[in-house]
Amino acid sequence: MDLQHCHNVDDLRARARRRLPAPLFHYIDGGADDEWTLRHNTQAFDDWNLLPSILRDVSRIDLSTRVLGCDLELPFFLAPTGMSRLFHHDKELGAARAAHRYGTLYSLSTLGTTSLEDVAQVPGPKMFQVYIHRDRGLTLEFAQRCKAAGYAALCLTVDTPLAGNRERDRRTGMIMPPRLGLRSLLSFAASPHWAWHWLRDPDFRLANVVHRVDALAGGAMGLIDYVNSQLDRSVSWRDAEWLRAQWDGPLVIKGIGTASDARQALAVGADAVMISNHGGRQLDGTPAPIEALPAMREAVGTRLELIVDGGVRRGTHVLKALALGANACSIGRGYLYGLAAGGQAGVERALHLLREELLRDMALLGCTRIDELGRAQVRRRDGRTDVEV
Ligand code: FNR
Repeated sequence: MDLQHCHNVDDLRARARRRLPAPLFHYIDGGADDEWTLRHNTQAFDDWNLLPSILRDVSRIDLSTRVLGCDLELPFFLAPTGMSRLFHHDKELGAARAAHRYGTLYSLSTLGTTSLEDVAQVPGPKMFQVYIHRDRGLTLEFAQRCKAAGYAALCLTVDTPLAGNRERDRRTGMIMPPRLGLRSLLSFAASPHWAWHWLRDPDFRLANVVHRVDALAGGAMGLIDYVNSQLDRSVSWRDAEWLRAQWDGPLVIKGIGTASDARQALAVGADAVMISNHGGRQLDGTPAPIEALPAMREAVGTRLELIVDGGVRRGTHVLKALALGANACSIGRGYLYGLAAGGQAGVERALHLLREELLRDMALLGCTRIDELGRAQVRRRDGRTDVEV
């Protein structure tokens, strides 16, 4: 199945599965423990019905919106995800170029395989995602480098004081950078396209941290070992406040799921929250972002922008999130499957499919602009008016 025959995100996932060595596919696809949260993030969208208004003039649909101080042509953007070089040699640059072509924001992870300065060369708005490392100087350096490189926003991920329990990675022997061994030989041989580029360009360094974190300069290590040895478990709201003082642009806190933590984010001066459980990769059993959204919107009113991050695979998912009060959605696996399936062209395919779905769904719902979406267009299927978090 080539990219043109991928008709939805699931088709891109199937193509990614065929093209990637098994450990890398499962690294994208997997979650923590029993993967209940991973599944539930998407399934929870089914708790809501969409209620169309008929006989509206829907001949022109405008998907543009403003979020994090950026004018975007789409109400969804690319979530920060680490190590894109693992999945395709187009890596972060390919994804950033695709985002630019579709008029949306690209988020670069601390654990990216391209430097934030190189990504900044691609036109279009960028956000940099920060993990607070034990080496606090590194975090400060990120803020300064992002300012110099013209990043639109900074995003602090707070759901990863330590790594979640990703059993698929243990079973497949996932390590960074990938190494040829007895275990990996078969899966590398089954992915000749990927293996060819792995041999030609084996630079898998974590480009933004490698100059300060010795552990990465040398041999391969488990990702879990990296997170557990380098990230700081003592990180607290005081660190969020400290980061706020270092950065005068929009600050996003990513990884919040309750109304009380959203209020706290507001109190430390955040501009936006990404409602997120890290795509089900951290604490299994947490609510889906779409479930957490209504109570959080009620708690913070319009003082915080809220981004639904997790489980989005369809245009209707974006519609439901916006109708329930989100300012935008962010998409992780939805674009990573595209990257693995075909590099930049695969990410563009993912964005194209989601945009076409959203355009069609808006028209069928009877809405022509994002700001027309609201609670009148959604109803819980079980008749409850809201969800307590
Ligand atoms: C992630 N995510 C993530 N988040 C983050 O803040 N920093 C990171 O480095 C990463 N890395 C990462 C790698 C991979 C392979 C995945 C799948 C995810 C989480 C990501 O930003 C986002 O929260 C989830 O992907 C959202 O869920 P969906 O869209 O994948 O369902």
